[in-house]
Amino acid sequence: MPSYSAHAPGKIILFGEHAVVYGQPAIAIPVHQVRANASVTPEINGDPGVVRIQAPNIDLDTRLDELNLDHPLAAAIEGVTASLGISRIPACTLRVTSTIPVASGLGSGAAVSVAVIRAMAGFLGQPMANEQVSKIAFEVEKIHHGTPSGIDNTVVTFAKPVYFVKGHPIETFNITNPFTIIIGDTGIASPTKETVGDVRLRWQANPKKFEAFFAAVGSITKSARAAIESGHPVRLGPLMNENHALLQEMGVSSPTLDRLVQAALDSGALGAKLSGGGRGGNMIALAATGNEKLISLAFKNAGAIRTITSNIED
Ligand code: PMV
Repeated sequence: MPSYSAHAPGKIILFGEHAVVYGQPAIAIPVHQVRANASVTPEINGDPGVVRIQAPNIDLDTRLDELNLDHPLAAAIEGVTASLGISRIPACTLRVTSTIPVASGLGSGAAVSVAVIRAMAGFLGQPMANEQVSKIAFEVEKIHHGTPSGIDNTVVTFAKPVYFVKGHPIETFNITNPFTIIIGDTGIASPTKETVGDVRLRWQANPKKFEAFFAAVGSITKSARAAIESGHPVRLGPLMNENHALLQEMGVSSPTLDRLVQAALDSGALGAKLSGGGRGGNMIALAATGNEKLISLAFKNAGAIRTITSNIED
């Protein structure tokens, strides 16, 4: 069996995080500047059925049978073998690397799962269709996130901008005029499972108030899609600001995120918001023509540990 390699990009949510868990739409795009890679190499002299796993980014060098079944890498591999009806994997080494920062809203967990699922299925001689890859990655996302909406695995698998509604087939849309966003990383790791769990508790304590927040975010996301499709991306700026204000009210922003948002607006961004789970991780700003570098510098001056400039086009 020959070696097989696969990769998957990072992702960022433009609109609709958290509300998407409650059935509202969200918009997310792939971020190709960062990616997860997985390769599976046969071990000709290895013991039958022994799968060695090396993930240097997380200092992991182990065997599959030494991992708990709820370990995301074990769950991804198990998802592949169960789905293909394979009971024993030929001796091999799975090597996983990633340039996507962990717990920062860039979809690192989903991208690692997708790369591993693709590489393992390919190694076993049965490369998988995107739908199946995404489905298995969604099951693994449940370990990371508790109650994920499915947006991360969907964007990362299909690697194109998506308009996502939980439980619905993937919907893509036209980007009529390209636009540029700057991603700023607070450097603060914030597990999505915790913020999603907190929003759930607050929603349970105050369902009417939170359902109104979710509905308001949903209509912002719909307007954002219309702005993108009609070729008026500048209209996304005020929509980002409104979405950020609602996320603040839901309790998932933080002083650092708010400071970066303000720095972006002060440097001429058309709009800015946190992105993903919140309380840390990444935020995004919409650039006006030619001010990408200014915004990026403003982020760095305000404490961002890295920035990524992403041109969004079809
Ligand atoms: O993985 P993150 O941090 O980009 O967050 C995912 C977005 C949430 O809406 C907060 C959770 C979900 O499952 O959709």
